[in-house]
Amino acid sequence: MSIPFAAIDDYKRAAAECAIALLGDGMVVGLGSGSTAEFALGALARRIGEGLRITGVPTSDRIAALAGRLGVPLTDLGTRPIDVAIDGADEIERGTLNLIKGGGGSLVREKLVARASRRFVVIADDRKLVDRLGNRGKLPVVLLPFARTLALHRLDALGIAATLRRLNGREVVTDDGLLIADCVCHNIGDAAALAARLAAVPGVVDSGLFLGLASEAIVAGAGGVHVIAPISA
Ligand code: A5P
Repeated sequence: MSIPFAAIDDYKRAAAECAIALLGDGMVVGLGSGSTAEFALGALARRIGEGLRITGVPTSDRIAALAGRLGVPLTDLGTRPIDVAIDGADEIERGTLNLIKGGGGSLVREKLVARASRRFVVIADDRKLVDRLGNRGKLPVVLLPFARTLALHRLDALGIAATLRRLNGREVVTDDGLLIADCVCHNIGDAAALAARLAAVPGVVDSGLFLGLASEAIVAGAGGVHVIAPISA
Protein backbone atom coordinates (compact mmCIF):
# COMPACT_ATOMS: atom_id res chain seq x y z
CA MET A 1 0.00 0.00 0.00
CA SER A 2 1.42 3.39 -0.94
CA ILE A 3 1.65 6.11 1.69
CA PRO A 4 -0.23 9.33 0.88
CA PHE A 5 2.06 12.29 0.10
CA ALA A 6 0.45 14.33 2.87
CA ALA A 7 1.49 11.70 5.42
CA ILE A 8 5.05 11.63 4.06
CA ASP A 9 5.22 15.40 4.38
CA ASP A 10 3.98 15.11 7.97
CA TYR A 11 6.80 12.65 8.72
CA LYS A 12 9.41 14.90 7.09
CA ARG A 13 8.09 17.87 9.05
CA ALA A 14 8.12 15.93 12.33
CA ALA A 15 11.73 14.83 11.85
CA ALA A 16 12.74 18.35 10.82
CA GLU A 17 11.09 20.00 13.84
CA CYS A 18 12.76 17.52 16.18
CA ALA A 19 16.18 18.47 14.75
CA ILE A 20 15.55 22.20 14.94
CA ALA A 21 14.62 21.80 18.64
CA LEU A 22 18.25 20.76 19.23
CA LEU A 23 19.60 24.20 18.29
CA GLY A 24 20.80 26.72 20.84
CA ASP A 25 21.47 30.44 20.82
CA GLY A 26 24.55 31.62 18.92
CA MET A 27 25.09 28.43 16.93
CA VAL A 28 26.39 28.22 13.37
CA VAL A 29 24.05 25.80 11.57
CA GLY A 30 24.57 23.94 8.31
CA LEU A 31 21.41 24.19 6.21
CA GLY A 32 20.88 21.11 4.05
CA SER A 33 19.02 20.94 0.75
CA GLY A 34 15.97 19.00 -0.37
CA SER A 35 12.36 18.87 0.70
CA THR A 36 12.99 17.61 4.26
CA ALA A 37 15.68 20.25 4.81
CA GLU A 38 13.19 22.86 3.61
CA PHE A 39 10.79 21.80 6.37
CA ALA A 40 13.69 22.27 8.79
CA LEU A 41 14.34 25.74 7.39
CA GLY A 42 10.68 26.68 7.97
CA ALA A 43 10.87 25.46 11.58
CA LEU A 44 14.16 27.33 12.04
CA ALA A 45 12.61 30.57 10.75
CA ARG A 46 9.81 30.18 13.30
CA ARG A 47 12.35 29.77 16.13
CA ILE A 48 14.25 32.84 14.88
CA GLY A 49 10.93 34.72 15.01
CA GLU A 50 10.72 33.68 18.68
CA GLY A 51 14.17 35.13 19.39
CA LEU A 52 16.71 32.38 18.55
CA ARG A 53 19.94 33.79 17.15
CA ILE A 54 21.81 31.54 14.72
CA THR A 55 23.81 31.91 11.53
CA GLY A 56 23.16 29.47 8.69
CA VAL A 57 25.58 28.00 6.16
CA PRO A 58 23.51 27.08 3.08
CA THR A 59 24.34 24.05 0.90
CA SER A 60 22.63 25.23 -2.29
CA ASP A 61 21.61 28.41 -4.05
CA ARG A 62 17.98 27.34 -3.64
CA ILE A 63 18.19 26.95 0.13
CA ALA A 64 20.14 30.24 0.38
CA ALA A 65 17.40 32.06 -1.52
CA LEU A 66 14.69 30.49 0.62
CA ALA A 67 16.59 31.33 3.80
CA GLY A 68 16.95 34.92 2.61
CA ARG A 69 13.20 35.17 2.06
CA LEU A 70 12.52 33.74 5.52
CA GLY A 71 14.94 36.14 7.24
CA VAL A 72 17.50 33.49 8.26
CA PRO A 73 20.96 35.13 8.59
CA LEU A 74 23.59 33.45 6.41
CA THR A 75 27.32 33.13 6.14
CA ASP A 76 29.53 31.06 3.87
CA LEU A 77 31.73 28.10 4.66
CA GLY A 78 34.43 29.85 6.65
CA THR A 79 37.02 28.76 9.15
CA ARG A 80 34.63 28.79 12.11
CA PRO A 81 33.34 25.28 12.80
CA ILE A 82 29.69 24.58 12.18
CA ASP A 83 28.00 23.51 15.42
CA VAL A 84 25.25 21.43 13.84
CA ALA A 85 24.38 20.59 10.23
CA ILE A 86 20.87 19.34 9.48
CA ASP A 87 20.20 17.65 6.16
CA GLY A 88 18.04 15.04 4.46
CA ALA A 89 19.17 11.85 2.73
CA ASP A 90 18.05 9.56 -0.07
CA GLU A 91 19.09 6.40 1.77
CA ILE A 92 20.16 5.76 5.36
CA GLU A 93 21.80 2.43 6.09
CA ARG A 94 20.52 0.86 9.30
CA GLY A 95 23.31 0.45 11.83
CA THR A 96 26.14 2.42 10.21
CA LEU A 97 24.04 5.46 9.27
CA ASN A 98 26.07 5.64 6.10
CA LEU A 99 24.12 7.63 3.54
CA ILE A 100 23.38 8.17 -0.10
CA LYS A 101 22.69 11.82 -0.83
CA GLY A 102 22.52 14.04 -3.88
CA GLY A 103 19.06 13.33 -5.24
CA GLY A 104 18.72 17.11 -5.31
CA GLY A 105 22.14 17.62 -6.87
CA SER A 106 23.79 19.53 -4.00
CA LEU A 107 25.98 16.77 -2.63
CA VAL A 108 29.38 18.47 -3.04
CA ARG A 109 28.42 21.42 -0.85
CA GLU A 110 26.42 19.15 1.47
CA LYS A 111 29.44 16.96 2.12
CA LEU A 112 31.74 19.94 2.72
CA VAL A 113 29.28 21.32 5.27
CA ALA A 114 28.76 17.90 6.92
CA ARG A 115 32.53 17.46 7.24
CA ALA A 116 32.94 20.93 8.74
CA SER A 117 30.27 20.23 11.36
CA ARG A 118 30.74 19.05 14.91
CA ARG A 119 27.39 17.28 14.71
CA PHE A 120 25.64 16.13 11.54
CA VAL A 121 21.96 15.37 12.05
CA VAL A 122 20.16 13.50 9.26
CA ILE A 123 16.41 13.93 8.97
CA ALA A 124 14.08 11.75 6.94
CA ASP A 125 10.84 9.87 6.70
CA ASP A 126 11.29 6.18 7.40
CA ARG A 127 11.06 5.10 3.74
CA LYS A 128 14.71 6.16 3.52
CA LEU A 129 15.98 3.45 5.90
CA VAL A 130 17.64 0.58 4.03
CA ASP A 131 19.52 -2.56 5.01
CA ARG A 132 22.11 -1.97 2.29
CA LEU A 133 22.87 1.25 0.39
CA GLY A 134 21.90 1.28 -3.27
CA ASN A 135 18.69 -0.65 -2.78
CA ARG A 136 16.33 2.30 -3.09
CA GLY A 137 17.70 4.32 -5.97
CA LYS A 138 20.76 5.36 -7.90
CA LEU A 139 24.04 6.71 -6.54
CA PRO A 140 24.75 10.26 -7.75
CA VAL A 141 28.35 10.88 -8.85
CA VAL A 142 29.42 14.44 -9.68
CA LEU A 143 31.58 14.98 -12.77
CA LEU A 144 33.74 17.77 -14.07
CA PRO A 145 32.20 18.68 -17.48
CA PHE A 146 35.66 18.81 -19.10
CA ALA A 147 36.26 15.14 -18.29
CA ARG A 148 32.73 13.80 -18.75
CA THR A 149 33.47 11.46 -21.66
CA LEU A 150 36.51 9.93 -19.99
CA ALA A 151 34.74 9.64 -16.63
CA LEU A 152 31.68 7.91 -18.14
CA HIS A 153 33.96 5.55 -20.07
CA ARG A 154 35.89 4.64 -16.90
CA LEU A 155 32.70 4.12 -14.90
CA ASP A 156 31.48 1.79 -17.65
CA ALA A 157 34.81 -0.08 -17.52
CA LEU A 158 34.25 -0.56 -13.78
CA GLY A 159 30.91 -2.19 -14.57
CA ILE A 160 28.93 0.78 -13.25
CA ALA A 161 26.01 1.80 -15.44
CA ALA A 162 25.89 5.60 -15.31
CA THR A 163 23.43 8.03 -16.88
CA LEU A 164 23.90 11.78 -17.00
CA ARG A 165 21.03 13.39 -15.15
CA ARG A 166 18.65 15.35 -17.38
CA LEU A 167 15.63 17.49 -16.68
CA ASN A 168 13.21 18.45 -19.44
CA GLY A 169 15.67 17.09 -21.99
CA ARG A 170 18.61 19.15 -20.71
CA GLU A 171 21.60 18.03 -18.71
CA VAL A 172 21.34 19.08 -15.09
CA VAL A 173 24.14 21.47 -14.12
CA THR A 174 24.80 21.96 -10.40
CA ASP A 175 25.22 25.30 -8.62
CA ASP A 176 28.96 24.79 -9.11
CA GLY A 177 28.73 24.11 -12.86
CA LEU A 178 29.17 20.34 -12.53
CA LEU A 179 27.31 17.38 -14.05
CA ILE A 180 25.65 14.47 -12.24
CA ALA A 181 25.92 10.85 -13.33
CA ASP A 182 23.31 8.66 -11.66
CA CYS A 183 24.89 5.25 -11.17
CA VAL A 184 23.30 1.85 -10.68
CA CYS A 185 25.03 0.35 -7.61
CA HIS A 186 22.69 -2.17 -6.02
CA ASN A 187 23.26 -3.69 -2.63
CA ILE A 188 26.52 -1.92 -1.80
CA GLY A 189 28.48 -4.19 0.53
CA ASP A 190 31.75 -2.31 0.98
CA ALA A 191 30.81 1.34 0.63
CA ALA A 192 34.30 2.59 1.53
CA ALA A 193 35.85 0.50 -1.26
CA LEU A 194 33.28 1.79 -3.76
CA ALA A 195 33.91 5.39 -2.65
CA ALA A 196 37.66 4.88 -3.19
CA ARG A 197 37.08 3.34 -6.65
CA LEU A 198 34.88 6.25 -7.66
CA ALA A 199 37.33 8.84 -6.28
CA ALA A 200 40.06 7.32 -8.46
CA VAL A 201 38.08 7.87 -11.68
CA PRO A 202 39.46 10.90 -13.57
CA GLY A 203 36.87 13.65 -13.67
CA VAL A 204 34.88 12.43 -10.67
CA VAL A 205 34.57 15.33 -8.22
CA ASP A 206 32.64 13.50 -5.50
CA SER A 207 30.01 10.85 -4.93
CA GLY A 208 26.81 10.73 -2.93
CA LEU A 209 28.29 8.27 -0.45
CA PHE A 210 28.42 9.97 2.97
CA LEU A 211 30.32 7.50 5.13
CA GLY A 212 30.88 7.84 8.86
CA LEU A 213 29.58 11.40 8.88
CA ALA A 214 26.14 11.18 10.51
CA SER A 215 26.07 11.73 14.27
CA GLU A 216 22.45 10.64 14.41
CA ALA A 217 19.38 10.16 12.24
CA ILE A 218 15.98 11.49 13.18
CA VAL A 219 13.50 9.33 11.33
CA ALA A 220 9.72 9.70 11.39
CA GLY A 221 6.97 7.37 10.28
CA ALA A 222 3.63 5.96 11.32
CA GLY A 223 5.21 4.73 14.57
CA GLY A 224 6.39 8.23 15.57
CA VAL A 225 9.78 9.96 15.58
CA HIS A 226 12.91 8.00 16.45
CA VAL A 227 16.42 9.24 17.07
CA ILE A 228 18.94 6.65 15.88
CA ALA A 229 22.65 6.67 16.75
CA PRO A 230 25.21 4.97 14.50
CA ILE A 231 26.58 1.60 15.53
CA SER A 232 30.29 1.74 14.76
CA ALA A 233 31.70 -1.15 12.73
C1 A5P B 1 20.05 17.11 -2.00
O1 A5P B 1 21.14 17.17 -2.88
C2 A5P B 1 19.95 15.77 -1.41
O2 A5P B 1 21.12 15.27 -0.85
C3 A5P B 1 18.82 15.66 -0.41
O3 A5P B 1 19.24 15.83 0.91
C4 A5P B 1 18.23 14.31 -0.55
O4 A5P B 1 17.98 14.10 -1.93
C5 A5P B 1 16.93 14.16 0.23
O5 A5P B 1 15.96 14.98 -0.31
P1 A5P B 1 14.46 14.95 0.21
O6 A5P B 1 14.49 15.45 1.62
O7 A5P B 1 13.76 15.88 -0.72
O8 A5P B 1 13.99 13.54 0.11
